[in-house]
Amino acid sequence: MKIGVLVGGGDAPGLNAAIKAVVSKAHEIGYDVVGIKNGWAGLLKLDTQPLSMDDVEEIHSRGGVVLYTSRTNPFKIENGPEQVIANMKKLKIDALVVMGGEDTLGVAQKLSEMNVQVVGVPKTIDNDLGGTDYSIGFDTAVAIATDAIDKLRTTAEAHHRIVIVEVMGRNTGWIALHAGLAGGANLTLIPEVPLGLNQVYGLLKYRKQNGKAYSIIVVAEGARVLKEKEQILVATEERDEFGHPRLGGISRVLEKLIEENTGLEARSVILGHLQRGGPPTAFDRILAMRLANKAVELIKEKRFGEMASFRAGNVVSVPLKEALSERKSVPPELYEMAKTFFR
Ligand code: F6P
Repeated sequence: MKIGVLVGGGDAPGLNAAIKAVVSKAHEIGYDVVGIKNGWAGLLKLDTQPLSMDDVEEIHSRGGVVLYTSRTNPFKIENGPEQVIANMKKLKIDALVVMGGEDTLGVAQKLSEMNVQVVGVPKTIDNDLGGTDYSIGFDTAVAIATDAIDKLRTTAEAHHRIVIVEVMGRNTGWIALHAGLAGGANLTLIPEVPLGLNQVYGLLKYRKQNGKAYSIIVVAEGARVLKEKEQILVATEERDEFGHPRLGGISRVLEKLIEENTGLEARSVILGHLQRGGPPTAFDRILAMRLANKAVELIKEKRFGEMASFRAGNVVSVPLKEALSERKSVPPELYEMAKTFFR
């Protein structure tokens, strides 16, 4: 049996630990592993590398992903899926471990319907994939964002300024909410809960009147902030192969509006790709190892079309179809709890 392993979409800290675990578990069972480079692009171009235990022994603590990644979508290329299947045969790959978020695993699910033997591993710093409580990379992103908020608080306070910290999160506010809570943000803005600018101004003015001249606002890049009922959206025209625009910059718009409407001095900080960089936390490493180990077990048990998942402290599995059926949003009760700290 030969297993191919690939990663698609944005990189996430913990992926290398997951690759190590795939090789390690496969080695135990007696399977060979081949690494596919640059996500689905590697299968279209036959770009692979063998992966031995020696190759992966020291990679668990490294950020990025040794196999590289891309946002290539075979279903956007003429005969792309057929090419993937033919190349798997050429490479003598019997089954695939696919690590990704909704886009990459969406491709895996469609291929699975075409009888490709595939299993999934959830990976996205956004943590918005259904069917699992946590995805690889989220914990590290939250830790980085929390550390940034702690640092920004001292300079914000020293200068009596409003600091708006922008974090990733296209459709959901998981990073914003968790980092905002852990970092003691005075306000957190997320895509799931629309908020009018007057509420933002009101809170900042209230704090100033009550002796707090500085404030920390955390905003997700895709937050629904309303300016006279119109959502402020900072997005590029061009789309990637999965149809997503590039977001980023809402904090700059807020900085200007806050200064104009409250008279308070404001600064924006976009954390951007810093949130995906550097070594994974211990939690992400272990989560990655457990999920990847489970993925190889799923192959052994011939449970194709399933995704390893983490639920209530246990590693289980769910059909890819189920995991992809609904995006996992921040539950209203969690945001309500966070609101008790908005002051
Ligand atoms: O999908 C994860 C993510 O980090 C999003 O939060 C973000 O919007 C996007 O990727 C950024 O993508 P890129 O690395 O292509 O700029």
